[in-house]
Formats: sequence, C-alpha cells, structure tokens
Amino acid sequence: MNAPRLVVDDISVLRVNTPRPVLNQISLAFASHELVSICGHNGAGKTTLARTLLGLCPVAKGEITLNGHPLHNAPRGQIQMVFQPPSAQLIGQTIFEELAVTALQRNPSLTRTQLEPFVQDCALRVGLRAPIHADVHALSGGELQRLCLAQALASQASVLVLDEALSSLDPATRTSLRRELRDLTVSHGMTILMITHDMEDVLVADRVVVLDLGEVRLDASPRDFFYDEAGQASPCSVLGFHPPYLVEAAITANQKWGAALKPLTEEQYVEELSHVPVP
Ligand SMILES: Nc1ncnc2c1ncn2[C@@H]1O[C@H](COP(=O)(O)OP(=O)(O)OP(=O)(O)O)[C@@H](O)[C@H]1O
Ligand SMILES: [Mg+2]
Repeated sequence: MNAPRLVVDDISVLRVNTPRPVLNQISLAFASHELVSICGHNGAGKTTLARTLLGLCPVAKGEITLNGHPLHNAPRGQIQMVFQPPSAQLIGQTIFEELAVTALQRNPSLTRTQLEPFVQDCALRVGLRAPIHADVHALSGGELQRLCLAQALASQASVLVLDEALSSLDPATRTSLRRELRDLTVSHGMTILMITHDMEDVLVADRVVVLDLGEVRLDASPRDFFYDEAGQASPCSVLGFHPPYLVEAAITANQKWGAALKPLTEEQYVEELSHVPVP
C-alpha cells in the first residue's frame, strides 16, 4: 500500500440512546489509488463511519487524520460523499450549474471561459453524456449518480465516500459505474470508499473491510474474503454474506474437480479453468 492518506486511529463514536458505542475502537488506513469496499449488515455502523469521516459525528475517542493533519484542520472539501438518493445533494438547475458551483467553491479564480471546458471534462470523465445545459431534474438515476461523481471530480476531492450509491441502479449501469470508479482511482489517485451490501462491488475493490456491531471484523483482499483453503468456509460465508455468482461457480468447480480456482473476474475464471484437468 502507498503511504496512508486517510488514517482512522482507534476512534469510538457514541450516539444518544444507544447503550454501546456505535463505532468502537476502529482503526483503518486508506491510501491514494485505493478502492475499498465497506460491508456489514444493517446497523453495523457503516453510515456512521462515513458521517464521521465527513466530520458530521463527534469522535469520543481517537483521531482521524488526512495527509497527516487532524481532520478538523484539513482543507475543506477534501472528502466528498455521494448520498443515496443522489437528488438529495442537488442545488443547481442544470448540470453546468451544479458542477460550476462546486468548481468555483474550490477555485474561485476560474473564469467563465475556463469553467465550461472544465465542467465538460468532469462530466465526460465519468461517462455523463447528457448535454451540460440539461435540467438536472430530468436526469435518470444512473445519470444522477454520474453527476455526483462528476461533482466529486469538480471539487478536486481526494477521498470519495459512496454510501450504497449504486444500489438503486440497473445492473448494466452499476457495472459501468464500477469501472468509472476504478478508473478514478487510477487516473486521479482518488481514495474511494464504497459502502455496499452488493458483493459484486467487492469483486472490483482492492480491499474489503467488514464492520460488525461497530467494530472492524475483517480487513482483507477480496480474494481472501471470498475464498479459503479447500473444504473450509470462506470469511464471506462465515460472516453471513452471499458470494457473487462468479465466486459460487468457482467454489463449485473446486469442490467438483479438486481445483483451487480463485477468480475475481470472468476472464480470470475462464483462464484458471483452462488449466484444470476436467475429466
Ligand atoms: N443519530 C443517531 N442516533 C442514535 N443512534 C443512531 C443514530 N444514527 C445511527 N444510530 C445507530 O447506530 C447504529 C449504526 O447505524 P448506521 O446507520 O451507521 O448503520 P449502517 O451500517 O449504515 O446500517 P444500514 O446497512 O442499515 O444502512 C444503529 O444501531 C443505529 O440505530
Ligand atoms: Mg447505512
């Protein structure tokens, strides 16, 4: 891992009327270029963690640092969140207005002539192909999600937190946005934290963190999460998640032919399977 950009050091978060801490002694570190899935059953503390990273929930104990500075001293806007539903965060009338407001907050010296190509570029980079003067209220769910990603680009944030932001989209849009997120980590060095219940999202991540009752239960690679040594239950199953179809197919092949397939993509599945001496 590169040097950590965002460090969560032994934090605990308390909420009123909850008998135990909602987050209890959480320690995590996230680097640039990393795409991390954050999973956990309902009430595990995922949204609370996201809100705490945004500075919205007070920390009772421990510290969060961004590029070595305590979060409250870090430059504003470095951590952006994509909410669900995305329309909850719209303030502009058109795509241009929406992105221009964000860009100007970050860089007030941008001129009108510079603004238009900048906004256009942010939209295109996340595959938002609607005209930039289109009304935001006429956009589809997938286009709105792309607009929120474009907004994160316009804000030049270094950390993007998505709280189940892809959950209401159709499978094809979800697949395409996963690819865009992956590309953002590569092209912009962004750190992306993707809170999700969808195990397909975990397949594209560099790491998966599982929260349970406010504590970190697992921090591992997707491969180590989905697969275990032959005959053993994987951490994914042990922690009560249902693996994606691809993983199920590989595990079935392993049981049937004594193979040790551990693919995370269809291409890897086909490639690994081609080396198995199938009777
Ligand atoms: N404002 C609040 N006041 C009191 N308790 C809260 C508050 N917000 C969250 N909680 C409690 O904190 C725990 C964690 O909630 P959180 O919303 O972080 O879970 P989650 O992992 O995001 O769950 P889900 O998958 O359902 O979105 C829950 O028990 C919840 O009831
Ligand atoms: Mg939540």
